[in-house]
Amino acid sequence: MPRQLNVALIGYKFMGKAHSHAYKDVHFFFKGDCVPVMKVICGRNEAPLRAAAEAWNWEEIETSWERVVQRDDIDLVDIASPQNTHRDIAVAAAQAGKHILLEKPMALNVHEAREMLDAVQQAGVKHMIMFNYRRVPAVGLAKRLIQEGKIGQLFHWRACYLQDWIVDPSFPLIWKFRKEIAGSGAHGDLNAHLIDLARYLVGEIKSVVGMTHNFIKQRPLPAESDQLTTMLTAQAGGGMGEVTVDDTASFLAEFENGAIGTFEATRFASGRKNYNHFEIYGSKGSLCFNFERMNELEYYSREEESHTQGFRTILATDESHPYISAWWPPGHLIGYEHTFINQIADLLKCIEEDTMPEPNFYDGWKNQQVLDAVLESAEKGTRVEVGG
Ligand SMILES: NC(=O)c1ccc[n+]([C@@H]2O[C@H](COP(=O)([O-])OP(=O)(O)OC[C@H]3O[C@@H](n4cnc5c(N)ncnc54)[C@H](O)[C@@H]3O)[C@@H](O)[C@H]2O)c1
Repeated sequence: MPRQLNVALIGYKFMGKAHSHAYKDVHFFFKGDCVPVMKVICGRNEAPLRAAAEAWNWEEIETSWERVVQRDDIDLVDIASPQNTHRDIAVAAAQAGKHILLEKPMALNVHEAREMLDAVQQAGVKHMIMFNYRRVPAVGLAKRLIQEGKIGQLFHWRACYLQDWIVDPSFPLIWKFRKEIAGSGAHGDLNAHLIDLARYLVGEIKSVVGMTHNFIKQRPLPAESDQLTTMLTAQAGGGMGEVTVDDTASFLAEFENGAIGTFEATRFASGRKNYNHFEIYGSKGSLCFNFERMNELEYYSREEESHTQGFRTILATDESHPYISAWWPPGHLIGYEHTFINQIADLLKCIEEDTMPEPNFYDGWKNQQVLDAVLESAEKGTRVEVGG
């Protein structure tokens, strides 16, 4: 008899849509015994919230997350709202005994992240962070090749996450450009994903040297009035508002296993849309991945005869590749939304089997340690030990 899991989703825009779609489709493709029920969706503004609920088939709406987490009929709280809300919602949800799915980055800073980790551990609930790029089959294949020893000793991690959606100076000042709401800019938004992939594929990061920069220091306030606009209009007298986060953040890293890494995040790389790219170089071979070609993994083996050596492209859509058996026959490609469905399928399975999903709040906290160490390094102009 399938078990029904009542879900409450906080946030109804970009990630709200991605998560809603995943709950709708997950049981169609992954036949687990734990079936999500789209019970309530939460946001602050009733009219657009109601429209989202109707479009995506949520049973109810709620305009206060405080009421949502106290409801007896909710089993899982999914937090897809800005970073300044993550700590309070997660701690309250844990104290109310709810399982939690949380968007990245975990928090505004490492102190909040630690508080959240303590809260879920004390409550004994399941917790997971939406570092969804782990759920790309080609990335899972990279992990398998490393575990099988095919890459050998890892020397280099070389990663960049490039987008271009804020190159235009007339792009408005949304919450993602304010430190008190977002914590950081491209760094927490994009480097957080690269750090998670690096921890997953290479190992823990020991020390970092960082640099951040702002290209555009002021942006027009959004036409649509929200709390942020109201606050900034009052402060600045209307018109323009200040960008208080990084536009780009790069860093060098030393891993605990001796590998060396480079990371670069920007939303100013014209022509790059969601260029989440990494290269791994080891003693026996190399790997290369780019999310804009997410079904492919490039693999080079030093163990082949020299006259046939060369990078080859593996189409990671075979039944032997992670998650693909739930989807389509080989060569029938998958896309962005599948990463969310794959991850939520794993979360449901862990709840069903009473095991802890990964990545979880421990990974979020370790991730936040690296994020904060990079910002500290950039500010001081020195190398910083992670978690030191
Ligand atoms: N996993 C990924 O690849 C990925 C991609 C984009 C964003 N994110 C993360 O997802 C989160 C949301 O980002 P987004 O791009 O969806 O933002 P968004 O601006 O598109 O949506 C934010 C939502 O949160 C709601 N919200 C804000 N404050 C709230 C409050 N106090 N109570 C209830 N609802 C509130 C807003 O109404 C809105 O619906 C962020 O943490 C972001 O970093 C993750």
